[in-house]
Amino acid sequence: MKGNKVKLIIATIKPFKLEEVREALTGIGVRGMMVTEIKGFGSQSGHTEIYRGAEYAVNFVPKIKLEIVVSASMADQVVDTIKSTAQTGKIGDGKIFVLDVAQAVRVRTGETDADAL
Ligand SMILES: Nc1ncnc2c1ncn2[C@@H]1O[C@H](COP(=O)(O)OP(=O)(O)OP(=O)(O)O)[C@@H](O)[C@H]1O
Ligand SMILES: [Mg+2]
Repeated sequence: MKGNKVKLIIATIKPFKLEEVREALTGIGVRGMMVTEIKGFGSQSGHTEIYRGAEYAVNFVPKIKLEIVVSASMADQVVDTIKSTAQTGKIGDGKIFVLDVAQAVRVRTGETDADAL
């Protein structure tokens, strides 16, 4: 159905928080997510180094990246749940980004947008 908008939530979290965040998200009705092991840096953990005139970022820290597509009406609740579950209060707790999704399709049926979830 057109106009049944969906959002993409990209979140980085500390790896040891993955299971707790997954449980909290399934508890509020999230039905799918992508999980990737990544390395990254935020405001403290990376610094730059000059090597042969070019600047390189060093000291990448392992993180888990979550990509979650949900109906737009659920997005705030998903953000709040990740925020409260992944938070330790120490540096490096992660980031959450929310993006509009132009289209989602369920391959098996051809359903689109929120019906595709
Ligand atoms: N501006 C950004 N763009 C894309 N990814 C980012 C950005 N900032 C941080 N990240 C990702 O989030 C991860 C965690 O970053 P982190 O939580 O350390 O951010 P921070 O801004 O340094 O905040 P904090 O003060 O809590 O450490 C990084 O490893 C990286 O993967
Ligand atoms: Mg940081």
